[in-house]
Amino acid sequence: TSGTSAPVEEKPATPLSILFGSQTGNAESLAKKTAKEANAKGFVAEVFDMEDYPQDRLKSDKNLLIITSTYGEGEPPDNAEALHSLLLSDEAPRLEGARFSVLGLGDSNYPDFNKCAKEFDKRLEELGAERVTEAVHCDTDFDDDYASWLEASLGSLSTGDNSGTSTAPATTTSTPSETTETNDGPIYGRKNPFPATLKSNFNLNKEGSAKETRHVEIVLEGSDLEYEAGDALAVKPHNCSTLVDEILEATGFSGEEKVTGSDDSEVTLKEALTSHYDICALNKLFLANYASFADHPTLNEMLANGNGHIDGYLTGRHIIDPLSDFPAKFPSAEDLVGMLKKLAPRLYSISSSPKAHPGEVHLTVGAVRYETHGRARKGVCSTFLADLSEGDTVSVYVQPNKHFRPPADSALPMIMVGPGTGIAPFRAFLEERNASGASGKNWLFFGDQKSEFDFLYADQLAALENESVLHRLDTAFSRDTDQKVYVQDRMRENAEELFQWLEEGGHFYVCGDASRMAKDVDRALHEIVETVGKKSSEEAVAYIDQLKSDKRYLRDVY
Ligand code: 2AM
Repeated sequence: TSGTSAPVEEKPATPLSILFGSQTGNAESLAKKTAKEANAKGFVAEVFDMEDYPQDRLKSDKNLLIITSTYGEGEPPDNAEALHSLLLSDEAPRLEGARFSVLGLGDSNYPDFNKCAKEFDKRLEELGAERVTEAVHCDTDFDDDYASWLEASLGSLSTGDNSGTSTAPATTTSTPSETTETNDGPIYGRKNPFPATLKSNFNLNKEGSAKETRHVEIVLEGSDLEYEAGDALAVKPHNCSTLVDEILEATGFSGEEKVTGSDDSEVTLKEALTSHYDICALNKLFLANYASFADHPTLNEMLANGNGHIDGYLTGRHIIDPLSDFPAKFPSAEDLVGMLKKLAPRLYSISSSPKAHPGEVHLTVGAVRYETHGRARKGVCSTFLADLSEGDTVSVYVQPNKHFRPPADSALPMIMVGPGTGIAPFRAFLEERNASGASGKNWLFFGDQKSEFDFLYADQLAALENESVLHRLDTAFSRDTDQKVYVQDRMRENAEELFQWLEEGGHFYVCGDASRMAKDVDRALHEIVETVGKKSSEEAVAYIDQLKSDKRYLRDVY
């Protein structure tokens, strides 16, 4: 299906730039798929990681598609940061004559749903570009919305004046991507997860810890799934059977009722609630839908009282709460599942190297269990994994994270900051470097609550130190002493040496909590570059921006 020998159309092809911003790889794979479809329709499409997009092309590119996720509290993904801040600044170029459409990827349970995509969409118009089709904001289950956006955006870009043409010929014989994918793509993937077997599952925290961090080993033999250190594993959870029973009891259904499953098959309600739909995450829409037939005075009053009251109620509550707080009969079981979102797979940073554990993949999972409003709560996927036993089946696929890798030059130093479950990819990186005999120095900053109970992988790390694979290990146990110490404090204490490693070409990695830890670590890094590197704050920002664009400052944060 090479374009060179294909028949050439009369009219010149329409150049199209597809820019993706992504933390997890979904936006990237959709961008590539979009390019294939576009090429098949006579465009000459180019796909850009936003970070690698030459910004002066904004002045000449006439057709732009933006595909981006959002992370943390509405921030752009790391690779979208530079373009996002340029476009939102006063230095942004005018974009008259350009046409665009935006696809947002997100999760509607977050308050800042698709904020980054919305900002791109608004700003491109402000700058004078023409929005050819409305932005589509996909939820976790994005296939259908993506397909309609693709059709609408390519449809409208191929009509009208595509000012700015290319000399490249349009190919008319490209194979549609669906066919290509099923022909030579992997058998197991997002649409067809692999039913893998659980090999082992144990608590990494010692008895007496406030935490439960599971080491989970999964067998991939028999699948065609391959991964590299740095990739993530997507896991399709099942909901807790106790919660399913509670929902059945609250709604008065037996569970035997026939309903439509998330794949449009007919399943029992019990099955649907167990493995097809999200029965935890509660949002305003669910409340409003429920209120429309529940006609419960307290619920109606709360909804009438406005967002403040609704948000107050939503905090710390799940779907089971309104069902039991404001009891009402659903017209039918189908109406119940019709109000639920599909159960989305969850991504976990892989904590093994395939070189060290052929045929296996390991995860490091923080089991989330807590209590709110008098009810025991559980993280859907973390406790599903935590409670699996040897021999159980778990559906998985690999979600590549191709930028998050040890340095290509195996002699370069790695500095890794991974408190708590953030250690996961760094265990994989260290195993990888050990297995491949990489000569580069390795430095790990690890932190958790108490050294006695929470020093995850302490024995393995000690062994790696003995074997001179791990050259520096600095730990910050926040609850060993009265004064809290965090990984960023250890970074500051070792500022000279840390800066030295960066100057030697070191790569700096962060994994773990996005909302506070990663920001505090970023601040510490800037301070270190300022003080040790004797730079102004602007120079430090430029130094660290350079690290980012050289892909030497990489983050896997959540
Ligand atoms: P804390 O819960 O005792 O405050 C892993 O969860 C470790 O990360 C814990 O020791 C936790 O400390 C710590 N942690 C919490 N907030 C942090 C932050 N802003 N920066 C760095 N580490 C943090």
